[in-house]
Amino acid sequence: MKKISIAIDGPASSGKSTVAKILAKKLGYIYCDTGAMYRALTYLAITKNIDFEDEKALVDLCLEHRISFEQTEKEQLVFIDRAQVTEAIRQPDVTNAVSIVAKHGAVRAKMVELQQMIGRAGGVVMDGRDIGTAVLPDAEVKIFLVASVIERAQRRYKENQEKGISTDFETLKKEIEQRDYLDSTRKVSPLKQAVDAVKIDTTGMGIEEVVKAIEEIISTKN
Ligand code: CDP
Ligand code: CDP
Repeated sequence: MKKISIAIDGPASSGKSTVAKILAKKLGYIYCDTGAMYRALTYLAITKNIDFEDEKALVDLCLEHRISFEQTEKEQLVFIDRAQVTEAIRQPDVTNAVSIVAKHGAVRAKMVELQQMIGRAGGVVMDGRDIGTAVLPDAEVKIFLVASVIERAQRRYKENQEKGISTDFETLKKEIEQRDYLDSTRKVSPLKQAVDAVKIDTTGMGIEEVVKAIEEIISTKN
C-alpha cells in the first residue's frame, strides 16, 4: 500500500493526539505531534526568561536548540537538545503561554520547516492546528476533529484526575476557550478547517469510534 500523509487538525482536547497515535501505530507510520514542538519552544522561553512577545528572541531559540522526538514502545518522548521534556511541556505554565508564542509568523515559519522535513517522505500522521492548511497542504487525508467545549473540558478534567492532578472544571473550560480563541483569531495560519478536510464532530464518540471513522476515510484513498 502506498504511504500517504494524514493531517489531523482541531481545537484543544478534540482527541487529535490520541487518535493520531493509534492510527500511526496501526499503519506503521511516523507520528508527529506539532503541538509538542510549540510547547517545547514555550518551555525554553520560560526557562530562559524570554518575553513571549519577543519574536526575534524566540526565533533565536529555535536556531540555538534542537527539538526532537523519540518513539518508544509505550510513548513518544520529546527532547530539547539532550534533555527529555515530555512531562515538563504539559505543565499549566506552558499550556497557558503556548498560544502567545505560537502566534508569531517567524516562529511558525521555523516550525513548519521542521515539520515539513519530518513529513517529506510520506507515511506520517501529523496533528496540530495548521497541518491541512499550511504544513501538509497536499496531504491525501485531512481530518478536522471537533467536539463541544463542555465535552472537551470534561475529557481534560478526567485525564487530569487520572494523573492525580487536581483542577477546577470551570477554570479548565475557560483556559480551553481562551486558547481556542487565540489559535483561531491569530493572523498567521489560524486554526481553520482546510476546504478539503473532513470534519468529524466527536461529541459523544468514543476513541475507537473516531479511529474507525478515519480508517474508513483512509481506505478510500488507497
Ligand atoms: O493537546 P492540546 O490541544 O492541549 O494542544 P497542543 O496540540 O499540544 O498544542 C498546543 C498549542 O500549540 C496550541 O494551543 C496552539 O497554540 C499551538 N499549535 C499551533 O499553533 N500550531 C500547531 N500546528 C500545533 C499547535
Ligand atoms: O490532542 P488533543 O488536545 O486534540 O486531544 P487528546 O489529548 O488526544 O485528548 C484529550 C483527552 O480526551 C484524552 O484523555 C483522550 O483520552 C480523551 N478522548 C476521549 O475521551 N474521547 C475521544 N473521542 C477522544 C479523546
